[in-house]
Amino acid sequence: MRRALILNGPNLNLLGTRRPDVYGAASLTELERKCREWGAQAGFGVQTFQSNHEGELIDRLHGARGNVAGVVINPGALTHYSYALHDAIEAIGVPTVEVHISNVKEREDWRRRSVVAPACVASVYGRGIAGYRWALEHLAARAAWAPTTLRYGPDDDHVADLRVPEGPGPISVVVLIHGGFWRDPWRRDLMDGAAVDLAKAGYATWNIEYRRIGGGGGWPVTLHDVAAAIDHVADLAGDHPIDPARVGVVGHSAGGHLALWAAGRRRLPAGAPGAGPRVVPLAVLALAPLGDLAAAHEAGLGEDAVEDFLRRAPADGEERFRVASPSALLPLGVPQSVIHGDADPAVPLDHSRAYVAAATAAGDEVTLLELPGVGHFGTIDHRSKAWVTARAELERLLPARA
Ligand code: DQA
Repeated sequence: MRRALILNGPNLNLLGTRRPDVYGAASLTELERKCREWGAQAGFGVQTFQSNHEGELIDRLHGARGNVAGVVINPGALTHYSYALHDAIEAIGVPTVEVHISNVKEREDWRRRSVVAPACVASVYGRGIAGYRWALEHLAARAAWAPTTLRYGPDDDHVADLRVPEGPGPISVVVLIHGGFWRDPWRRDLMDGAAVDLAKAGYATWNIEYRRIGGGGGWPVTLHDVAAAIDHVADLAGDHPIDPARVGVVGHSAGGHLALWAAGRRRLPAGAPGAGPRVVPLAVLALAPLGDLAAAHEAGLGEDAVEDFLRRAPADGEERFRVASPSALLPLGVPQSVIHGDADPAVPLDHSRAYVAAATAAGDEVTLLELPGVGHFGTIDHRSKAWVTARAELERLLPARA
C-alpha cells in the first residue's frame, strides 16, 4: 500500500483544549486516528508525527523522501515564517499538501501569509479537521492521474486542472465546477475524484478554480471567472485533441448553480457578466445544485450564502436574482440532468424538485434523479453508487467521443 505522512507542528498537541472555538473539540490522538481511517479509504497507509520543534519536522520531511507517496502538513504558526520548512518541502520532491484547521484568511493579518504554500501542491484551510481528509484525497487523485494545471487569466485563482486521456481525438470535454457556497475555503480539490474518474472514462476534464467570497469573488467576479474558464476551452483545443464544440459541464452545489447559469449565458442581456459565450455547453449535470437563487436566499442556505454572493449586485429585491439565477434564465435550451440525494441538509431536495418543474414547464429537456439516503457530498463521492449514477447520466447526455 502507498504511504502518506501526516505532520503536525507546534501547539497542535494541545488540540481539543486549545481554542476549541477555533480548532474544534477533537484531540490530536483522535485526529490521527481519523487520518489513518481516511488514509485507508484513499488507499494510503498513514504515519503520523507531531512536534513543537522546527528541526524535528524538517528531519521527518527529509526521511519522507523516497519513502512516502505524499505528505500532509499542518505547520501551525511555523506556516507564517519558516522558510526552512518551505525549503525542506521543496527539497524532498514529495507532493505535500498544507492544511489548516481554521480559516487562516479570516483571522489576524499575519496568519494570511503562508511561506510554505509555494512549495506545496495544494493548501486546504477553514474546513475543520475534515481538511486532512480532503488533503489525503487530493494526494490520492494526484497519484492516480496527475493533472496539468494551466492558467486562464491573470489572478492566482485563474487556474484549472486539465486531464486528457490518450488515444484518438477529438474528445469531449467536461468542465467541473466545485461548490462550497461560493466561499473561499472550498476549492477545486472537491472535484478531484470525479475528474480522475471521468478522465478514466475517456473524457478530457477541466476542473476549474474561480474567485470566491472572502477571496475577491462574489457577484460579478465569480461569474466572470467561471465564464472565462469555460470559454478558455476553445483556446485549449489548439494544443490538445479536444473538441470545443462538445463540452459538458458538471457542477456540484453552488458549482451546480454556476453550471446551470453557464448553460444559460446565451440568454443573458448584453452587458451582463458572462454574456456572449464563446463556448456553449451541450449538456449539464447538476449535482445537488442551487437552481433557484431566490429560493435558496429565502431558505437562508449556506448561512445566507446567496446574500453574501449577491452583495455587490446592482438591482434590489427580486431583480437581483435575474442577473444570476438559472431559474431566471429558463429555458436554458441545453439538456440537463439534476441529481439530488434525499438526505441532503445543506441543499434540500425540494430545491431541485422546484427547479426541475420550472425548467420542464419552460420547455427544457431536463431529468431529476432523486437518490435515497444520499447526502450533500454523496453525489461527488467517486467511490459511491451515487457517483456511478451521475457518470452514467453524463454519458447519456454527452458521450466521451462523438
Ligand atoms: C493553524 C493556523 C495557524 O495560524 C496556527 O498558528 C496554528 C494552527 C490551523 O490549523 O488552523 O497553530 O495551522
